[in-house]
Amino acid sequence: MRILDIIEKKKNKIALSDEEIQFWIDGVTDGTIPDYQTSSLLMAIVLNGMDEHETAKLAEAMMNSGDVIDLSCIDGIKSDKHSTGGVGDKTSIALGAMVAACGLKVAKMSGRGLGHTGGTLDKLESIEGFNCFLSEEEFKKQVDEIGLSIIGQTGELVPADKKLYALRDVTSTVNSIPLIASSIMSKKLASGSNTILLDVKYGEGAFMKTIEDAKELANAMISIGNKLGRNTMAMITDMNQPLGNTIGNALEVQEAIETVKGNGPKDFTELCMCAGEIMIMQAKLAESKEEARKMLEEAISSGKAYEKLLEMVKAQGGNVEQIKNTDLLPKSKFITEMKSKENGYIGNIHSMQLGILAMYLGAGRQTKEDSINYAVGLKMNVKKGNQVKEGDLLCTVYHDEELSQDWINKFYDTFTYSQEKVNSIPIVEDILG
Ligand code: URA
Repeated sequence: MRILDIIEKKKNKIALSDEEIQFWIDGVTDGTIPDYQTSSLLMAIVLNGMDEHETAKLAEAMMNSGDVIDLSCIDGIKSDKHSTGGVGDKTSIALGAMVAACGLKVAKMSGRGLGHTGGTLDKLESIEGFNCFLSEEEFKKQVDEIGLSIIGQTGELVPADKKLYALRDVTSTVNSIPLIASSIMSKKLASGSNTILLDVKYGEGAFMKTIEDAKELANAMISIGNKLGRNTMAMITDMNQPLGNTIGNALEVQEAIETVKGNGPKDFTELCMCAGEIMIMQAKLAESKEEARKMLEEAISSGKAYEKLLEMVKAQGGNVEQIKNTDLLPKSKFITEMKSKENGYIGNIHSMQLGILAMYLGAGRQTKEDSINYAVGLKMNVKKGNQVKEGDLLCTVYHDEELSQDWINKFYDTFTYSQEKVNSIPIVEDILG
């Protein structure tokens, strides 16, 4: 087999065979196919696409390029969830505790953030001592015993994706549904859970800008999961404004804690409840969504979800006193209130820009080497559609350095106002699968 023939085939819009896809991914993994030929094939895929069968084969070949976690030693159905990423997304922390309190086994491997605020691991590391790097054995033992563990990737998961993603990043070949779907799903498949819930975000602060694109990506990932024997479902959720009220690591942990205690913001709580219902149904622990919702409500009102979060933090070496008393979480030097300069209804809130402003405060990384300031971030006081008057509080900023005039100008630019009533957007747009 020759890679040149495979490139030629895709250039001519002909579907690749399983053997050809396997040959390519083997060559990417062991370095025998040079980057310039892989780049050429990637561009041909961007331009000419892949059908469902090719996409599933690509995900499978990538999954098998490295370690595949075997969770079969843990009793019961193992559940995973994945978000395509958004601003203020602390879902894994609250949702993990909520569904584990309902009896699910959640074995979650998360990532760090680059670009704006931190990823789930960075958020958890704002808790003193929290260890995101358990061995595979410790990870499995914890999931078996308490039903919940969130860690960074163990072993060498999906090395082919690492190489392909690095190449795609510098060859303008990121934006392709089959490439994105197979990249995300190869990692979920290698993580070993039986069920997968995908939270595919759409909107200004998301990877997919429109509902239609988000649905197309979701359907491509559902098809891969189902073809490879995993019960896979997706939620299409709004990212036209930050999720919940907080952006920034310790602030988001605090909001996740409030949410598992039943005091979370309405949109974030609803997203967690909807996701929880689906995960409980996927794990066959309830027969209807209504029953699943009751289980989640009970987990919150009885304090079991909060207890589960405490158990996970304790098991992973974190300081539980900071969970019991969130005043002990990292604190910024300064707190500044940003007040509205106008009257009207809040139209748009540019969540991506707010995420970038939080990054400038130190909440996220611009390069992999940057360190994170856990204390800094934003606490929003308004949502799209709220009516505000001049002088009303828009947001509280937690920061360690003086805010520059440029930062302040950019902050005010993230809001648009309307004199007409603005409808709020439902957080969950659709459920697929
Ligand atoms: N996230 C991934 O893991 N892969 C992609 O291709 C895009 C987003």
